[in-house]
Amino acid sequence: MNLLTSSSPSSPAPLSAHAEKLIRGRRATRAFRPEPVPEETMRAIFSLAGAAPSNSNAQPWRVEVVSGAARERLAGALQAAHAARRVTVDFPYSEDMYAPVHQERRAAFGAQLYGALGIGPDDHEARAAYDAESLRFYGAPHAAFLFVTGDGGARLAADAGAYLQTLLLAMAAYGVASCPQGLLSFYADAVRSELDLPAAEGKLLVGVSFGYADETAPVNGVTADRAALEAVATFHGHSDC
Ligand SMILES: Cc1cc2nc3c(=O)[nH]c(=O)nc-3n(C[C@H](O)[C@H](O)[C@H](O)COP(=O)(O)O)c2cc1C
Repeated sequence: MNLLTSSSPSSPAPLSAHAEKLIRGRRATRAFRPEPVPEETMRAIFSLAGAAPSNSNAQPWRVEVVSGAARERLAGALQAAHAARRVTVDFPYSEDMYAPVHQERRAAFGAQLYGALGIGPDDHEARAAYDAESLRFYGAPHAAFLFVTGDGGARLAADAGAYLQTLLLAMAAYGVASCPQGLLSFYADAVRSELDLPAAEGKLLVGVSFGYADETAPVNGVTADRAALEAVATFHGHSDC
């Protein structure tokens, strides 16, 4: 019996309440406790994440996970590259990619985040220092670096995006908190060099810091709003059914 499809159309599947809790309960976490995730749990999480969908089941992704001394060395290498402005992105980044509505949402979120940190809107120095510090994985004991394999084109990056969300939910299901960090992909050459990865490894899309949340940190109380349903979804022809 397929648990996900066995209920009638009019009654929600019994799993939906759990799914809702899991999906809405996952939050970007920016303060962690130092204790590591047990290896068995780590393997279970990444094994579950592999259930992500991909076009023709090509699974065009790879993850490199760092912990312990390797994590420490990589944090140092990222901060050194950041300080020296040695930016190397595998996927180009530009503020121009955002539409005005995106910029509005970003600004609202930024105000919430930096507000929780006690950093004022015009305190660019403090914001920059916080960003530089975030390269130490917000104190998380582990970080995963997600590479898009193949030619790393936009269609394959979409598959890797599906993997990313599946990974974040798998972590949440095991009580492991996470923060996807685009900033960790801004120093792709430093990551490759530190982990001794060949260029053929793929293109670095994003890093994910993970571990157990520090529930006492005010920054972890930030909840990012979402656009109204009507702003993102249109249901064509549904009332004809
Ligand atoms: C691809 C991607 C890149 C992100 N990059 C960063 C980042 O560099 N630093 C950071 O603190 N959060 C980063 N985030 C987390 C977002 O800010 C966060 O997901 C968003 O504000 C929604 O909040 P929520 O995840 O708590 O629901 C990133 C999220 C995604 C999906």
